[in-house]
Amino acid sequence: MQADIDKVLLDRRTIARRVEELAEQIGADIAAEVAQADGRGSDPQEITFVPILVGSVIFLADLIRHLPLRMQIRVMTVSSYPGTATESRGAKVDATLTNLPDNLAGRHILLVDDILDSGGTLRLVTDLIRQRNPVSVRTCVLLRKRRPQAMAFPVDYVAFDIPDEFIVGYGLDYDGYYRNLPDIVTLRPEVTGVPSPGF
Ligand code: IMP
Ligand code: MG
Repeated sequence: MQADIDKVLLDRRTIARRVEELAEQIGADIAAEVAQADGRGSDPQEITFVPILVGSVIFLADLIRHLPLRMQIRVMTVSSYPGTATESRGAKVDATLTNLPDNLAGRHILLVDDILDSGGTLRLVTDLIRQRNPVSVRTCVLLRKRRPQAMAFPVDYVAFDIPDEFIVGYGLDYDGYYRNLPDIVTLRPEVTGVPSPGF
């Protein structure tokens, strides 16, 4: 696995520092929103994090441990890079594994995804969630690729903007592998069959 790494784009310490910083920002925003609602005498506001599986599991696990909030988690499974593809082909909700709850009405939703690439996944999931009448829907991604489609897509929280390259690690995969790498890396061109920029 280590031999397949081309270069480290974001090392584990850099990721950890930024995830903690982002959690503080998210926690402060949510607390402010809930306090405002309580001040209006509305029903108690409930918070649900919806991670998009599988890629966001490690990010979610690290993020929520910096958030001392009353919250729940509901998972969703979406796949958009089938098998060994390294280009987004548009998102498909995996009907057999999708576990989107009906009881999102009246709740604040924070969607958590690993990476914003074409925006297809987040668009699809945001639409599905809005149909369930939540109080609010926010989106949070670990990574956003510096490409026009991604930069133009509205998201609330981004941990890192990265070059438009195919990367793996810290939850992100190539053909289902490399998710357990602690750093975010590019793979050697002979592994993916795609020459890296400048190669
Ligand atoms: P989008 O729907 O095109 O925005 O793609 C988002 C999804 O594609 C992410 O949730 C990832 O699962 C996958 N993806 C996009 N870029 C990469 C990458 O560089 N490496 C691994 N997976 C990626
Ligand atoms: Mg994904």
